[in-house]
Amino acid sequence: MSAPALAVRLADYQAPAWRVTDVELVFDLDPEATVVEACLRVERDAGTDAVPLRLDGESLELLALEVDGGPLPAERWRLDERSLTLLDLPATATVRTRARIRPAANTALQGLYLSGSAAAGFLLTQCEAEGFRRITWFPDRPDVLARYTVTLRADRARFPVLLANGNAAGAGDAGGGRHWARFVDPHPKPSYLFALVAGRLERIEDTFVTAEGRRVGVVVHAEADAIAQCGWALDCIKQAMRWDEARFGRCYDLDAFHVVATHDFTMGAMENKGLNIFNSKYLLADIEQATDDDFRHVLAVVGHEYFHNWTGNRVTCRDWFQLSLKEGLTVYREQEFESDVASRTLRRIEDVRTLWRAQFPEDAGPLAHPVRPLHYSAIDNFYTATVYEKGAEIVRMLATALGREGFRRGLDLYFSRHDGRAVTIEDFLAALGAATGRDLAPWLAWYAQPGTPELVASGRHDAQAQRYALTLRQRTPATANRPEGQALPLPVATALFGRDGRRLPLRADAASPPVSDDGVLLLDGAEATWQFEGVAEPPVVSLLRGYSAPVRLHQDVAAADLALLARHEDDGFNRWLAVDTLGRRLFADILAGTASPAALPLWTDAIAAVLGDDGIDPALAAELLTLPDEATLSEGRVPVDPEAVHVARARLETALATALEPDLLRCLDRPVAVASQAIDAPAQARRRLRNRCMALLARAAPTHLERVRLQWREAVNLTDRLAALACLLQAEAPDAPAALDDFATRHASQPLVLDKWFSLQATAARDDAAERVAALTTHPAFRWENPNKVYALLLAFALRNPRGFHRADGAGYRLIAESITRVDALTPQVAARLATSFGGWRRYEPVRRAQMRHEIERLRARPHVSTDLADILDRSLA
Ligand code: ARG
Ligand code: ZN
Repeated sequence: MSAPALAVRLADYQAPAWRVTDVELVFDLDPEATVVEACLRVERDAGTDAVPLRLDGESLELLALEVDGGPLPAERWRLDERSLTLLDLPATATVRTRARIRPAANTALQGLYLSGSAAAGFLLTQCEAEGFRRITWFPDRPDVLARYTVTLRADRARFPVLLANGNAAGAGDAGGGRHWARFVDPHPKPSYLFALVAGRLERIEDTFVTAEGRRVGVVVHAEADAIAQCGWALDCIKQAMRWDEARFGRCYDLDAFHVVATHDFTMGAMENKGLNIFNSKYLLADIEQATDDDFRHVLAVVGHEYFHNWTGNRVTCRDWFQLSLKEGLTVYREQEFESDVASRTLRRIEDVRTLWRAQFPEDAGPLAHPVRPLHYSAIDNFYTATVYEKGAEIVRMLATALGREGFRRGLDLYFSRHDGRAVTIEDFLAALGAATGRDLAPWLAWYAQPGTPELVASGRHDAQAQRYALTLRQRTPATANRPEGQALPLPVATALFGRDGRRLPLRADAASPPVSDDGVLLLDGAEATWQFEGVAEPPVVSLLRGYSAPVRLHQDVAAADLALLARHEDDGFNRWLAVDTLGRRLFADILAGTASPAALPLWTDAIAAVLGDDGIDPALAAELLTLPDEATLSEGRVPVDPEAVHVARARLETALATALEPDLLRCLDRPVAVASQAIDAPAQARRRLRNRCMALLARAAPTHLERVRLQWREAVNLTDRLAALACLLQAEAPDAPAALDDFATRHASQPLVLDKWFSLQATAARDDAAERVAALTTHPAFRWENPNKVYALLLAFALRNPRGFHRADGAGYRLIAESITRVDALTPQVAARLATSFGGWRRYEPVRRAQMRHEIERLRARPHVSTDLADILDRSLA
């Protein structure tokens, strides 16, 4: 991968010549035209002389410019579409600018924009990564940290609530029906963490007393029709605050912590200092309008944004190449939070499913990039599964390799060394290494090298000597876009089981590489062998327990051994993995036309045995009954025939349902002592299992649809209602259309529920899916300007309906290509995201490959392609 001509390169990084120590911002807010006055106290770095001060600025109308209280002669400043440059400034100066911006016309949703209608909506900002330059002129880069004082002025009736980062520092009347409020943020911060919110918002609040004794006001804000759905989020914030203190010793550091929900957001949420802003989808939750998964997602995302206060805000990134420094680490913290307060095994299975479905294909295709990219032309396109999820896996491996205590000491040192600074991934590894006396330099390769490593395991048992030799080899093979990778440090959590299912001791001889107390083998070269002693019989080997490294494992395990692990492995993840592996083998056989009916019972019996175990976590049982989706099953196969994958998967699922019919019925008929409106983890787990059983039964025989109909009529929560509706749709039941209509009527005023209604139809694997999705774009509730609607309908179709998207006549491709053009004119980031669905085009059989390529080229050739979209298209074709 060579860098395009205009790309920003990591290798070109230069520390800023000018610092901004203090910023004062005064906003005269109005949806049509807002005036922003900025006063920057700037200082030239000693040793850099005569460097002009270049301030980023886009879509700003200049009203005034002053330096040190006076006008600047025309020859000492230059203004263009992207910047304002000031020449011959003294070494310290005060720069004052006044700009006009137009929030109501801002459909890109970056900078200051309007959520909802001009008459009733509210104003808010989104600055990461480069949105602040659409608000005022500023060195809009994360290594310029300044103290902010912000004054907001607005019409009191229209904008009663005014919020910005930091602590409240006064408010009052501004005359003429206007009012003002001031905020001072004592923590220096980069511009991407700036935020303001203004409008008619309701609030719910509580107090949290930190371990340091600070009384913090915790406040959730939403529009009137949504405020009743904010209680769960408020609860989650307090849980997150407590957890970060207990697990990582991190306390909150301002007088108040505010979060705000908006329906108009291009991504999940944003960690602005003291003023987090959330896509409503990840903040609002009640039993009538949110599913159990939504409740868990709110917990996770609220945690994620809150944890950024230390990993991202207090210690931030030197430049955007270091994005995973904050995102990988914060995703890891979020995963640990949910694992500690809800279900560890379920969260791990879900994370690994995401990795396989989204990150592995990304890493294998033209959009592959290292966790720390080397260059970019549109940074917004690097908020990817690789930077987030693979980045989190690297942090998890480090935590595994250093041990829980060592990792904690390392993070403590990282915070104390770098608090208030903008740093790099090297700084992170150096702190972890210094605190634990380890050289972590080899780990940098995980950040630098794209591609998924292959791990090959082989073993040999010596009955006479009672020894078992385990050899591990790794390789990251070359692809069209990159050479073969180097060996990486791989922690391989390992257990040996005897034929009776009991754990065998893991005692390596003195000549073997070290094994940690908790059974982790660290493979740090291309190959290594461990000799385990006292192993009387050939063991069953369970590797990568808890998925201890994000690699593809090749291990020759007999199906009977997998069945044994499914029964006896005490690591919940590997227990699930054994069943998943059996299922995938059967899938591969069906796809290849070599399936033998004799192989099925080993898999289905293993599942039945687990289902019959009363001690089993119902959430894990539900996951055992859930096959990988079509995208995951297609991953790693070339060329892909999506129709064949769909058919083979459906056959396998029907076989499972048929074989387990009595077990599923027994499971469903088991009396459950769970209130149908309870949302605690056990209640959720039980619903998850029941709904999974119901879905499989509906597959097994149409007679079971009666159960589905009963649930449809009697459901008192959204999880159960939606699960029943999905079954009717999947079965193409005659009453499915009427049920869909009922659902839409019942939830007509609930945008987030309607999003699910759109998604359900978008992902139905029907012959006419493309036509139906196209028709739904004209539904009155669908809006092209609203990212959630575009994601719910079009992205869901492109990513989660492979049969529809890849229809042989190309109708799915055309629909998505046309949608991309339409969205690109409004919200380029959303268009770019949609366009990633064409990224895997080379893996498909020739007809589809040609069609996809044609759509990418046609999109690229159109006039007015945004930078974000052009970047995805160009890299897809490279
Ligand atoms: N930092 C945000 C998070 O917590 C995401 C920001 C995404 N920004 C973007 N331009 N895509 O994950
Ligand atoms: Zn984040």
